[in-house]
Order: sequence, then C-alpha cells, then structure tokens
Amino acid sequence: MTDTQQWWRHAVGYQIYPQSFFDSNHDGVGDLPGVQAKINYLKDLGVDFVWLASFYPSGHVDSGYDVTDYCGVDPQFGTLTDFEALVAALHATGIKVVIDLALNHTSAQHPWFRAARQSRTNPYHDYYIWQPSDGQTPPNNWQSVFGDSAWQPNPATHEAYLHSFATAQPDLNWENPRVQQEMVQIIQWWADRHVDGFRLDGVTHLKKRADFADVADPRTGYYQDLAGVAPYLAALRPVLTANHLLTIGEAGGVDMTTAKQWLDPTTGFFDLLLEFDHVHFWEMAEPKLPVAALRANLTKWQVALEGHGWSALFIENHDLPRAVSYYGDAVDYPRRSAQALGMWYMLMKGTPFIYQGQELGLTNADFTQIDQYRDLDSCNYYHRQLATGAPVANTLKQLAAKSRDNARTPIPWTGKAYGGFSTTTPWIDMGPDVAQRNVERESHDPLSVLTFYQQLIRVKQSVPALQTGRYELIDTYDDQLYVYRRTYNGDNWLVMVNMSSQIATTQEFDLTASELILTNLLVDSDSDAQQIQPWEARLYHLRQLE
Ligand code: GLC
Repeated sequence: MTDTQQWWRHAVGYQIYPQSFFDSNHDGVGDLPGVQAKINYLKDLGVDFVWLASFYPSGHVDSGYDVTDYCGVDPQFGTLTDFEALVAALHATGIKVVIDLALNHTSAQHPWFRAARQSRTNPYHDYYIWQPSDGQTPPNNWQSVFGDSAWQPNPATHEAYLHSFATAQPDLNWENPRVQQEMVQIIQWWADRHVDGFRLDGVTHLKKRADFADVADPRTGYYQDLAGVAPYLAALRPVLTANHLLTIGEAGGVDMTTAKQWLDPTTGFFDLLLEFDHVHFWEMAEPKLPVAALRANLTKWQVALEGHGWSALFIENHDLPRAVSYYGDAVDYPRRSAQALGMWYMLMKGTPFIYQGQELGLTNADFTQIDQYRDLDSCNYYHRQLATGAPVANTLKQLAAKSRDNARTPIPWTGKAYGGFSTTTPWIDMGPDVAQRNVERESHDPLSVLTFYQQLIRVKQSVPALQTGRYELIDTYDDQLYVYRRTYNGDNWLVMVNMSSQIATTQEFDLTASELILTNLLVDSDSDAQQIQPWEARLYHLRQLE
C-alpha cells in the first residue's frame, strides 16, 4: 500500500456526534447542515478527517444505533442532499469523511425485521437469530449489554429473537450470506457517495455461540468468538479495499493475537482498531484505572503493534464520560488536566481521535435528576438498580460519573443561551460552565484548552518522530507520572505528564540541554526537571544522544 493510501497514518481524526454539534434549523437537535456551518472551526482546529456518529434513519431507541434504513439520513439530521453537500464541502477543505455502520443489529422497525418476525418461512426470517420459545422462559441465560435477558419473545413464530443490546435492536444473523451481501452493497452505496471510510460498530459481537448453551459469563460469554468473526469480516474486505476505504473496527474485548491478525496490512481487515483496555467500557460502577495500570495497558498495545499494525488513540467518544472528569481533575485543575491528557495520549504512536468538545476541556454533564438523562443504557441502569433496592442518590452519583450522556451534551459555541448551539431548548441539557468554557472564548485565549489542542495537532502532524517513531515507556514506578520517548532515525522526543493533582518529583532525567517544545504550564521557569507540577505536561526535543 502506498503512503498516500495510508493517509490516515499521518492524520488526526475528529468524532462528531451530530445531534449535539450545531443546530442549524432551530429544532433543538444538531444536524448535518449544522456540521457544514462549522467547517471553518474544524479547519482552524486542524483535523484531517471527521467520523460522523450514526445519522441513519432510526427508531431513536439507542441514539441512532438502531437503524431502520442503511441508505438514508434521519430527517432530524437533514436529507441525503444535505449529506452530499456536507461531504463535498468537507472535501473542498481537505477534510475526509468516515461514517459509522452498525453491523451487529438493526432496529426492530427495520423492514427486514418487520418481515422476518411474521413467519418462519418469510425470506427475511433468517436475517436474524431465533430460538424456540414458549414466551415465558428465555432460551438460555444470555444477557444483553444493556441488562436483562438477551431474548425477546416473538409470539407470531413461537420463538424469541436475540438482541445483544436493546430489545429494539435485534441481532443480525451473520451466518447468512445474504446478510453479508446486504452489508457489502450498503458499503458500496456510501462509497459511491464519496465517503472515505467506515467505523464498523461492535465487530466483536458478530459471532454467537452456535450451541445456544448457557454460559459462565452471561454478559459476554456467548459472543467474542473472535476466530468466528473473521470470515464475516473477510466477506466485507473486498468492497472496502476496492474503494480504498479507511476501516476502523470498534473491537471491545479484542485480544492481542487477534488484533495483530485483523490489522495485518495484507491479510487483515482493519486499518485501525478501537480497543478499550484503558477504559472500563460499559461498567457503570467501576472506578478509573490507576496511572500504573494505564502505563501497563497502553504500553502493552504500543509495543505489541510496533511493526504489526497501527493504533487508534482515543480517550473519549460518545459512549464514555468526559476525559477531564474521568482521568483528570475537573475540580481543581480542569484546564491544566484537560491539556495534559491531550498531550499524554495524542503523542503516542497511532492516529489520534478527538471527540467533539474534548478540545474545549468539557467536563461531565453534572446532571442531578434522572429525567435529565436521555441515554437508554443510563435509564435502564437506574431503574434496575432501584429495583434491587440501591439508593437513588448513590445511583445518580454513578450515572454522574459514568453515564454516556456526559459526553452527549451540546457543544457550547458561545456563552449565550443554550451555548449558541440552538435558539431553542436542546434535546438534552447543556453541560456546566457554558459561560467560561465555550468556543468563542477559548479561541481568543492563548492559554485555553482549545489553543493547546491546536498546538498539539500541529506538532503531531509536523514531527515525523511523533507519527512514525518507536514508542518506549520510561517507567517511573509511581502513581503519578507517565513518561515516554518517541524515536525516529536518531531523532528523540520525550513526553512527560504528571497525571496527578500533586507535585511529582523525579531524579531520572537530565534534560538540561534539551529543548522544551510545548508545555501547559503558564510560567515555564517552573519547568524544573526534578519538580513536575500537578497535571503539568511537557514535550521535549531531546539533545542528540552521543
Ligand atoms: C456501539 C455504539 C454505541 C451503541 C452500541 C449498540 O458500541 O458506539 O453507542 O449503543 O454500539 O449499537
């Protein structure tokens, strides 16, 4: 593959969650023309491609990931013409476009499923996964990611269908070659509309246990047969390759051996994999990982993929809480910790993804009542917890820390009403501190999180060692510092981040002759090699090694 075809190795990506980006038609919901209206913002930020989260017509149960038509645009986001205009405008600015594709399930309202559920002989019946059912007892103990049984009775056929996510998201039967062919055609249909790539949703879920037996871990034990997924991915590979599409797999739970196979440039299926070792995905009650664990988990991937594949680097997306609240210190060091986190992950080896609002240092939503939440997973969790007797206050506290809605609040463009996102009440409440933290204000502030992200993006794009250089952890064996080196053809760079709210002390580094290229500390006379301030981040160009 040529270097031009591997453009994504030198690129910075930006994820757009359309319902919360910008509302152009004053209905309280962001839309595709709203994205187009803000292209200059993306250009100034300096990103090379956008990934648009699911915008297909949907049943609106799982925020667009319950698709009713794979070849369209949900009316709340605009029309297909709007989409084509957006792609053309982004391309004219030099920004490429990646779209989402939910492969594992459709909406229960999708015409395939409406037909499939009518009778066992319907031609679409075998598009989905069924087991005989008396309507009372689930066929086995399999549970959905969103809680409860993964089976829903379908009285018309005396069966139950499998849904590994919401009840309204029946799982597709990937054993059926016709399902594979449908997806091939859908990919070609969008390629014909000039998209540059796909983020393939939930690929580790595609293969289910064929014996339908009870499993030891009802949440995950019936899928994640990763070897079984490979033939399905192989069926998609020709259309993706023929159209030179960037392929990003959402691969929660993927192991290292499989990741290497899937990322192999000649025999693999993906250019980039989104894996979740550094976050506790879906686990509402789990606390954040300590720095030592982050060092271990991220380094494991960086080292293993060296020479074997390319990493997708991210700390936020539409399914995770805000990074500054999760990893950082949103109370005492909101600005500095947001900047430090940016340097920490973006300068590792791989293609960085920024999730909208992360570059502003947006924090969690600070919702205090259940009726502020829109996310189905959060609402289900709340009701399940209360049913088991968990206290309301405690459950709300967990949601405030981990709910997916934390990342789904609208972008504050200005400090005005509704953050200038819309002229009317948005579909979900704004996050906190809109007056202080918004695009208008931050773009005029040389010390803002936004300005720092612009600098980070530029440095990532312009320094070859920060793109292709080898990554090497410098283990400080503490619970504060994350230090690593990037090396390329004798050119050495050092990233040093204090990931804690206390001063860190280290004797390890002689940096006297090295050049400090970027830091998030206001007064750089504080940049003492031995004393590293809370959430201080430094990028050094190291002097030539003798
Ligand atoms: C993916 C999406 C998430 C969605 C899930 C089920 O993980 O990122 O938002 O809920 O798939 O469709």
